[in-house]
Amino acid sequence: MLLGVNVDHVATIRQARLAKEPDPVMAATLAILGGADGITVHLREDRRHIQDRDLRLLRDIVTCELNLEMAATPEMLRIAIDTRPDLVTIVPEKRQELTTEGGLNVKENRERLKEFIKRINAYGIPVSLFINPSIEDVDISREIDAQMVEIHTGMYADAPALNKPEELKKISNAVQRARSIGLEVNAGHGLNYHNVKPVAQIPNLRGLYIGHSIVARAVLVGMKEAVREMKNLIESATKV
Ligand code: PXP
Repeated sequence: MLLGVNVDHVATIRQARLAKEPDPVMAATLAILGGADGITVHLREDRRHIQDRDLRLLRDIVTCELNLEMAATPEMLRIAIDTRPDLVTIVPEKRQELTTEGGLNVKENRERLKEFIKRINAYGIPVSLFINPSIEDVDISREIDAQMVEIHTGMYADAPALNKPEELKKISNAVQRARSIGLEVNAGHGLNYHNVKPVAQIPNLRGLYIGHSIVARAVLVGMKEAVREMKNLIESATKV
C-alpha cells in the first residue's frame, strides 16, 4: 500500500507569517526519507498555502510520485502541462471551504471532465478523480476515461463510531467496483492515526493520501526537541 504525504499544511504555517519557513519542500524531502511513496500538493486558486514556487521546486527534487491536486480550470491545466507532475488529481474547489469538502460532481460535469482528462493525458500524465464512495460515480469516472479514482474517506472519518462500519462498507464497495472495471483506486481525506487501519485493510487499494494528521503529529512530536534546542541556545549565550 502506497502512502502519499500531503504537505499543504506545512505551507499553511509558513503563510500565516508570509515567511520562508517552514518550507514544504524541505518537509517533502524529510517525508520521503521517512518512507513516503509520494508527495501531494494542492495548488489552490487563491494560493492560500502551496505557492507556484513550491510546485516548481518539488518537481525538481521529488523522485517518487509527485501528485498535483487541482481544480479543473484553464489556469491549472496550463500549470500541470508546464510542471508535468507524475499524477494529476482533480478535486472540486470552493473559495470559502477550509478543505476539500466533497468529491467531484462527475455526473453534472462529465463532458467537461472528459475533455479535461483528455488534454492532460495528451502530455502523458495520468489523471485521478477525487470522488465520493458511490458506485455511480466510479462508473462515470471509467466512462470519461480517468485512469484512477481517489475515494473520499471524509464521511467515514467524520462518522460517529456506530456509523463507521456502514461508511467503511461504502468505501470498500466503491474500491472493488473501481478495480473490477479497470481503474486504479486510492483513498484519502480525514485519515488519522486512529481511523486509518480499517481503510488500509480494504483489499485492492493502491494507496492512501494523508496530510493534516501527519503534519499535526509532526508539529507535536518535534515540539520537545525544538524547545530544548532553543533553551540550550539561550543558556549557552548567557553563560560567560
Ligand atoms: N485527498 C484529497 C483529494 C484531498 O483534497 C486532501 C486534502 O487536501 C487529502 C487527500 C488529504 O486529506 P487530509 O489532509 O485530511 O489528510
